[in-house]
This record gives sequence, C-alpha cells and structure tokens, in this order.
Amino acid sequence: MLTKADMTATILSNSEVAPEHYLMTLAVSGAFRDARPGQFVMLRPAGRGFPFLGRPLGIYSLAEYGNGARIEILYRAAGKGTKVISTLCEGDRIEILGPLGNRFELRPGMKTAVLMAGGIGIAPLVFLAENLSVNAPPEGLKMMLYIGARDSASLLGIDRMKNFGAEVRVSTDDGSAGYRGPVTDLFRKDLASFDASKTEVFVCGPNPMLKRVSEMIADRPVPCQVLMEERMACGMGACLGCTIEVRTPSGVEYRQVCADGPVFDLRSIVWR
Ligand SMILES: Cc1cc2nc3c(=O)[nH]c(=O)nc-3n(C[C@H](O)[C@H](O)[C@H](O)COP(=O)(O)OP(=O)(O)OC[C@H]3O[C@@H](n4cnc5c(N)ncnc54)[C@H](O)[C@@H]3O)c2cc1C
Ligand code: FES
Repeated sequence: MLTKADMTATILSNSEVAPEHYLMTLAVSGAFRDARPGQFVMLRPAGRGFPFLGRPLGIYSLAEYGNGARIEILYRAAGKGTKVISTLCEGDRIEILGPLGNRFELRPGMKTAVLMAGGIGIAPLVFLAENLSVNAPPEGLKMMLYIGARDSASLLGIDRMKNFGAEVRVSTDDGSAGYRGPVTDLFRKDLASFDASKTEVFVCGPNPMLKRVSEMIADRPVPCQVLMEERMACGMGACLGCTIEVRTPSGVEYRQVCADGPVFDLRSIVWR
C-alpha cells in the first residue's frame, strides 16, 4: 500500500516554458519519495475559493530534497483550473493530495520500451524514462520515444528523453518539426519490427490517439499500457466521476481511473 499525503506544498518555481505550457517545482513531504511513474497528484491553490476541486496532474520528475522530496509537474493551462494554477508564484502554497493511483508495470524481460506521447501526454512518460534510465535500468534496455504535437513549440520533454538515452521520433500537425501528420503514422511504420516478447509500449495522450493505437495493436501481441487522463473530482475513488468501462474475462465492468488506474492495459479499454 502506498502512503498518501494530503497537505500543502511550497512552490519553488512555476514558469511558462512554451505557449500555454508551464513547469512547476514543488517541495513536498517524504511520502513522495516512494512515488512511481504513472502516479499523479491532485492540486488546488491553497486559501482560494476557485477551483473548488483539485486538478489531476502527473509527476514529471522526482528527486530527494532535504528531508522530503522535490517534484516537477509539466502542465498545459487547458482551462480555468490549470490557468489559476499557472498564476501561482514561488513561495505560494498549494494543496496537494498524493501520490495517487497505480503505476506503470515493468516486466523483467523487457528489452525495448516504446514510449508514445501526444502533446502534454509526454509528462508522465518522462518520469517513466527517468526511472528506467537512472534508478534500475534493465540490462541492455533500448528506449524509443514517439512524440506528436500540434507544432514545434508544443514539443516538450525531448531533451530530457534524449539525456535518458531514448531514440526520438517526432511529428507535428503543421509540419514545423519532424514528420507532418499524426504520430501514430510513425508508430505504425515501425510496429512490425517490434519483438512482442521483449517490447512493452507505454502511451499517453488524447483519446482519439489512444483509440487509434488500440486499433493498430489489435492483431499484434505487443503489450501496451495506457495512462488514462480522465476528468476527476475527488481523485480517491469516492465520487465515481472518473468511471470508464473495461473488458475483463467476466465481461465489461466499470473502473475508476483515479483508484484502479490511471494505468490500464490499452486492450481492455472500451472506447465510446
Ligand atoms: C491521471 C492524470 C494525469 C494528468 N497529467 C497531466 C499532466 O501531467 N499535465 C497536464 O497538462 N495535464 C494532465 N492531466 C490533464 C489535466 O488534469 C486536465 O487538463 C485538467 O484537469 C483540466 O482542468 P482545467 O480546470 O484547467 O480545465 P477545464 O476547464 O476543466 O477543461 C478545459 C478543457 O480540457 C478538457 N479536459 C478537462 N479535464 C481533462 C482531462 N482530464 N483530460 C483531458 N482533457 C480534459 C475539457 O474537456 C476542456 O476542453 C492529467 C489528467 C489525469 C487524469
Ligand atoms: S475522481 Fe472521484 S472516483 Fe475518481
């Protein structure tokens, strides 16, 4: 059972790194030292009436910091809640609940990790790559990143991925960097070359992209884990606001992304 901390954290920095995209660094409690790739936090500005509910954001990086830990959050100011969070400054306090959720599973026999990100879906995958390269790298592991974004300015985290040893394939909607078109085109070209018994795919991005990947791998045995970015309210399995449908051996069942996920077997997801 992972320890959960419900408290406030101090913002060490919070700055715009690309149009509409921000990088926030937080000093958090020692409970976060055990956080694992795939886990997330619920964040809410302290002492403000809005937003009333926290917003779920993935962990981008983790390091020890004094007696506690320091985490980074890479986020897009997508709507009202994250826009308010983007106005917070160094020294401000923020309510934080976490680390929450399950984690990406790492198979012992994995020789190739294929990471695939759409837009800000890169954030939790950078933490995964950090973990794979720094903490306990499986021997001889090859890491590949497929990343797509609307334009070159929205391509984030690539330098870190390269530092972690990943081979990077880039696409943009407008052709301002890499291949012009969806990142799933690049993935499909290479899919046949992956040895399914030694490869694991990890994917995070908008639902249309995830659905496309699930169609591509349907007749291939390669394992694929997905981090689902569902809308959330409580973040703790109480409100059922983040319910999705998954296929199980006994039929279609409901799952809460916050408590049962956010990481699932991509093949199990029922797309509506
Ligand atoms: C486990 C998890 C991890 C996440 N990690 C990150 C991260 O690391 N970085 C990051 O930028 N975002 C991440 N998200 C998405 C983030 O939670 C939403 O963008 C945020 O909650 C939007 O809140 P808002 O009040 O700013 O926008 P709202 O005003 O609520 O919505 C603005 C727009 O975003 C859409 N939206 C709202 N919530 C989501 C959602 N959960 N997924 C997709 N679209 C949404 C709305 O439909 C609307 O179009 C994550 C979500 C989950 C569940
Ligand atoms: S957000 Fe409340 S049950 Fe998941």
